[in-house]
Amino acid sequence: MNIIDKSEYYLDYLDKSEELKELNKLIKKDGDTITQGYVPTVLEHNHFVICLKNKITHEIYSFIHFCIRENFFDIPKYIFVNYSYTFIKQRNKGLNKMLRLVLEDACKTNKIQAIISVPFKESNSRTIMDKLGYTNEKDDLYIKYIK
Ligand SMILES: CC(C)(COP(=O)(O)OP(=O)(O)OC[C@H]1O[C@@H](n2cnc3c(N)ncnc32)[C@H](O)[C@@H]1OP(=O)(O)O)[C@@H](O)C(=O)NCCC(=O)NCCS
Repeated sequence: MNIIDKSEYYLDYLDKSEELKELNKLIKKDGDTITQGYVPTVLEHNHFVICLKNKITHEIYSFIHFCIRENFFDIPKYIFVNYSYTFIKQRNKGLNKMLRLVLEDACKTNKIQAIISVPFKESNSRTIMDKLGYTNEKDDLYIKYIK
């Protein structure tokens, strides 16, 4: 994807238990006590973790854990965002937004009709979703329909 290729980051997938355990340790160490979450260390077949790493140091800067689900009312196939996180020092550089755009591209190429997110109450990701055109239809459910 162009916006990533031209930057100092590269897109990667995390799927090995060791990598996911290490990721959880890094999240804990980061010290965000309000919106700290975790990723499962064994991913079910429909779960994925994509991340942006620094091209030189290979450090993970930002990631999204999501799964692909089927049949939510009139939506046959959709991406459900389980958790997104950018390490504190790397925030507000547009990294998580880039990953959300990667998900949108993935939807287009894989005939997936929507992305659904249910952000934490304290989460900042609402701003990103508003900017990317998600609609907040009910409760804390945000949907972006992909055409
Ligand atoms: C939410 C989170 C993932 C955003 O990551 P990020 O890489 O800093 O986000 P981006 O830089 O891509 O931000 C995209 C937009 O969101 C807005 N935004 C980002 N951080 C914000 C903040 N702290 N407060 C208000 N708006 C914010 C910005 O306006 C930005 O838009 P712009 O670049 O067009 O101005 C990050 O703040 C985080 O990890 N928070 C803790 C965990 C969490 O809340 N996760 C979501 C739960 S599912």
